[in-house]
Amino acid sequence: MKLSIVNITEKINTHIDQISPYDPGKPIEAVAEYYGIDANDIIKLASNESALGVSPAAVKAIRNNAELCFRYPEGSAHKLRIKIAKKFDVLPDQIIMGNGSNEILTFIGHCFMNSETSTVSSEHSFAVYKMITELYDARSIQVPMTKDLVLDIYKMVDAIESDTSVIFICNPNNPTGTMIKNKDLESAIEKIPEDVLVVIDEAYAEIALETMPESMRYVAEKTNVIICRTFSKAYGLAGLRLGYGMGPVNLIQALQKARQPFNVNLIAQIAGTAAIDDDEFVDQSKRVYRDAKLYMEELCNDLNLNYIPTTTNFMLIKVGNGAEVAEQLLKKGIIVRSMNGYDLPEYIRVTFGMPKENQKFIKTLRELLK
Ligand SMILES: Cc1ncc(COP(=O)(O)O)c(C=O)c1O
Repeated sequence: MKLSIVNITEKINTHIDQISPYDPGKPIEAVAEYYGIDANDIIKLASNESALGVSPAAVKAIRNNAELCFRYPEGSAHKLRIKIAKKFDVLPDQIIMGNGSNEILTFIGHCFMNSETSTVSSEHSFAVYKMITELYDARSIQVPMTKDLVLDIYKMVDAIESDTSVIFICNPNNPTGTMIKNKDLESAIEKIPEDVLVVIDEAYAEIALETMPESMRYVAEKTNVIICRTFSKAYGLAGLRLGYGMGPVNLIQALQKARQPFNVNLIAQIAGTAAIDDDEFVDQSKRVYRDAKLYMEELCNDLNLNYIPTTTNFMLIKVGNGAEVAEQLLKKGIIVRSMNGYDLPEYIRVTFGMPKENQKFIKTLRELLK
């Protein structure tokens, strides 16, 4: 057999080759194996998942419908879109479903980004915005935050250039947990040119601990605004991958062209349809997060650690060398996220868990910092 001397990877589009892969953090099984810890003793507070697990309404629906999996799902998730439409008082045609809300971001990339465009986002904001921008060979303009690590929405608007096609507003922002105020969002949206797509990523809206800005009105009033939401956080369906975008009909129609025919699986559609009515689960989650926030803040004060006051289910704690502390916690079976990738090396990001998990985290952190 003749050996090939061609390295196939040399044929990869250069802009793709240069992308740094997303770091999803270590899964429980990997930590258990690597550090020789029983998986049941490991606490994962790293991916802003639901502390309470899956919405019980969704669990019931998943169990009751397992035997339907031999069928392809309904392509556009019609039933679920009708439910979401009713909830937000929009038309089903104003909604597009994604394999997680991340997939909505790729539809936006397909439609709005290329090597002659740029996107604007905040420098310490959800890493996927920059990744998607680079995936489509567009240029990412990263804007500094305020000193309190809140999105500097006015600076972001000022950063828009003539080739900018998309601006990403993450609210509440991951990883800082901070929220922009209604009046700031309002005046920013008024200033953004109408030929720039405004993506308001509200992944944490349902579990937000403060009143969210009235963003839905922009979907009704503006031609260039899309709101992204997810079932991953508030409903505990991160593993099923289910998210959606809401915007004007013509925009959604265009995004639909970038969608694979059966992108949202059948069980995710069924689980989402049940979960969206599970207000009790969401209310209970919020109570847990509110208590967790109070507890964590109090204990951080005790330990003389600075933190960023959060408006959602995770918080940034300033520990000095974030990567080192995260690694030490990992060895003790506690998975949190170091913030090197977000250029906040002094911090760790901790997702709120149930009280026992939070207590164990704080106890271990206290021991480590001694
Ligand atoms: C701000 C933000 N947007 C989107 C996502 C991804 O959501 P999904 O699981 O629906 O893809 C996350 C997940 O961490 C997030 O923090």
